[in-house]
Amino acid sequence: MDQKKYELEINSAKTLDELSQLEIKYLGRNGQINKLLSEIKNVPNEEKREYGQKVNLLKTEIKKYIEIRKLIVSKEKSEVFFDKTLPGKAYPKGSIHIVSYAIEEITKIFEKIGFIRVSYPEVDWEYGAFESLNMPSGHPARDDVETSFIDVPAHPNLGKMVLTPHTSNGQNREMKRVKTPPIRMINISKCYRPNWDPTHTPMFHQFEGLCVDSDISIVNLRGTLDYFAEKYFGKGTKTRLRPHHFQFTEPSFEVDISCNNCGGIGKYKGEKCRVCKSGWLELGGTGMVHPNVLREGGIDPSANSGWAFGFGIERVIMMKYGLDDIRNYYSGDIRFLEQF
Ligand code: PHE
Repeated sequence: MDQKKYELEINSAKTLDELSQLEIKYLGRNGQINKLLSEIKNVPNEEKREYGQKVNLLKTEIKKYIEIRKLIVSKEKSEVFFDKTLPGKAYPKGSIHIVSYAIEEITKIFEKIGFIRVSYPEVDWEYGAFESLNMPSGHPARDDVETSFIDVPAHPNLGKMVLTPHTSNGQNREMKRVKTPPIRMINISKCYRPNWDPTHTPMFHQFEGLCVDSDISIVNLRGTLDYFAEKYFGKGTKTRLRPHHFQFTEPSFEVDISCNNCGGIGKYKGEKCRVCKSGWLELGGTGMVHPNVLREGGIDPSANSGWAFGFGIERVIMMKYGLDDIRNYYSGDIRFLEQF
């Protein structure tokens, strides 16, 4: 057998499959080695021994060549080989933070009815946070909204710099941006008030709705609140308004939604509902935009009217899922966060 030929053949094999074929061709039952061995009967007796030794040597050699080539081929393979059928490695997956998730949900709900999502500065002047909202300096209502001031020189016209205590600072900015109604704003942003207890964190989020047009009434407000309550909290959720006071709305209300845990009854399985007080949960503040606020925003209150509301994102999440401590949202504890 021509040594060069099998050497070349084996060494040019590129796959393990090809090598198995060669193994069969040379070393198999009907392979060339066995054929050579079977020819021993035609070899003269005195040469049989030497012939046998030669064939065996050849056999060992071919075996060795094939083994070595197998190693080379499988090594080359393992470097480039990619098995598409193997299941991928599962890396631990993060989840969207509940607050980000709620912001997305709320944005979608309002965009569906033509509201435009905006985001106004978290650091503003007293003018945006108070004056433009019918809360002149020295007005006692300003004390209701505890505010963090920033230690920089005051602006000659706009007053001191503050961390916005509510998203209502977006009202005046939005009126000045749009100039001519209609205005349909949903302003979502971080707010700051120095509180820390189960229902308050010093940084929190609010979403502020503002709707201004030529004949907007409280009916539109109620319709929008009902729409939001059903979409966010679930079908059958009802709203109710309770009289309240804000400087920037007149009349002003606090909005409650019916409790989904007890269906608005206040009792759950014969016991006092642990989620709500007497069937209702407080959502936040709302009202018809005060004429002074419209005027300050450059809008004629004799030709236009509007409503506004401001609700806490952390709060609506708490109400939706029946959570009892919003400080968990910011604890960074994965066991809490990955539930949502
Ligand atoms: N800014 C008010 C608050 O933070 C909520 C509010 C917004 C009330 C708009 C009325 C109208 O409590």
